[in-house]
Amino acid sequence: MSFISVQQAIDKGEGQVSLRGWIHRERGSNKLKFIVLRDSSNIIQVVCKRDIFEDWSLIDKLSVESSIEVTGTLHEDARAPTGYELRAESLTLVGESHEYPITRDMSVEHLANNRHLWLRSRKMMAMLKIRSTVFTAIRDYFLQQGFIEYHSPIFQAVQCEGGSELFEVNYFDKKDVFLTQTWQLYAEPAIFGVEKIFTIAPTFRAEKSLTARHLTEFWMAEMEMAWASFSDIIGHGEGMVKHIVQKVLKDNVLELSLLERDTKDLENLLDKPFIQITYTDALAKLKTVGMNVEWGKDLRTLEEEKLCELYDVPVVVTHYPKKVKAFYMTEDQDNPDVVHGCDFLVKGIGEILGGSHREHDLEKIKQRLIDDNEDPSEYEFYLDTRRYGSVPHGGFGLGTERVIRWICGFDQVKDCIAFPRTPERYKP
Ligand code: 4AD
Ligand code: MG
Repeated sequence: MSFISVQQAIDKGEGQVSLRGWIHRERGSNKLKFIVLRDSSNIIQVVCKRDIFEDWSLIDKLSVESSIEVTGTLHEDARAPTGYELRAESLTLVGESHEYPITRDMSVEHLANNRHLWLRSRKMMAMLKIRSTVFTAIRDYFLQQGFIEYHSPIFQAVQCEGGSELFEVNYFDKKDVFLTQTWQLYAEPAIFGVEKIFTIAPTFRAEKSLTARHLTEFWMAEMEMAWASFSDIIGHGEGMVKHIVQKVLKDNVLELSLLERDTKDLENLLDKPFIQITYTDALAKLKTVGMNVEWGKDLRTLEEEKLCELYDVPVVVTHYPKKVKAFYMTEDQDNPDVVHGCDFLVKGIGEILGGSHREHDLEKIKQRLIDDNEDPSEYEFYLDTRRYGSVPHGGFGLGTERVIRWICGFDQVKDCIAFPRTPERYKP
């Protein structure tokens, strides 16, 4: 028997076909049974009639999430969920399923405890497919732009984005080994050889914050580039985000409609430049809508969201105060209180991408490490990048789950990864 996918059957629309999948829903009597069959491609109604199945006990055994193989004839039927039904002629029960723990209207907690089963839901399947497209689009973008894929270690011996957010690892009783917070300090050394690099890798942050946009384990897409100006970095950020959106809009029409995502805002941003605004000008803008932020304070999520509401494309905030940004960002020549760092903000979420031009002045970097209570001698390998043929360079990191949340229109990054990790949850 050769099987085709449910979507192929819908496209075919008539004739005899064999399908296999899982029972998404079932109802009926002891004469007629309606099944909604699900496979990775779509769902289709399957009808089993008593006069065809003399041994009805087989049909009676079918319940939610049983896996089956079924052969039958396709008929158009406007009442069926995807417009066609398969009138079953023979059916094999491959794997029984008893009292499936997930039914309608389950609590968030119950679904989280049963995440391994909830992954079969159409919502999660749609997200996983969109997630895969996002990852592919990121790779496409960088490969097309002449970058090579490069990998930093996951076990690292220095911090880069704030020591309080490090996960310490028991590494043969060594005291200073952490899970990576960013690839950056181990990526910068490589650009003095291969020049243009990117990665998509697991990233760990021991952030206690229980928010809709923080995970303790997430996947970050990062790039680093030699001979780059600050505007080159922003340009690639914008190019990559647009490429991601464009590819999802093209490849995930079915998933976006299943998630009931109105994609007008995404379509709209493709042929418009993103807004670029300095931190100082952003504060002035916020003031006009009644939000007062003291100069020098980092923007909070609610302020980022508010700023995004004022525009119909993503907003790139630049020239943040030095004291709220990491030690490696280039100081502005005219105003040493600000740095050449940028955050990309989108509606409903705020920051999805953070990047910067990298400080080239060795003494300034050392001083900023000291200001952050770090011991520069631990960073010798990194400081060597500024000693031997340093060049202007920079890079950024994109939180993939945040982008997926934005594209899917979800309220939580937890829904944007198969098994989310948060301060409260590390199982299943
Ligand atoms: O802004 P961040 O901290 O930047 C860096 O780590 C730089 N070293 C990147 C670089 O220049 N190579 O993090 C980058 C992005 C954020 O904009 C956000 O989207 C995401 O990573 N992110 C998180 N996503 C989910 N959960 C968390 N706890 C996150 N922390 C950051
Ligand atoms: Mg950031």
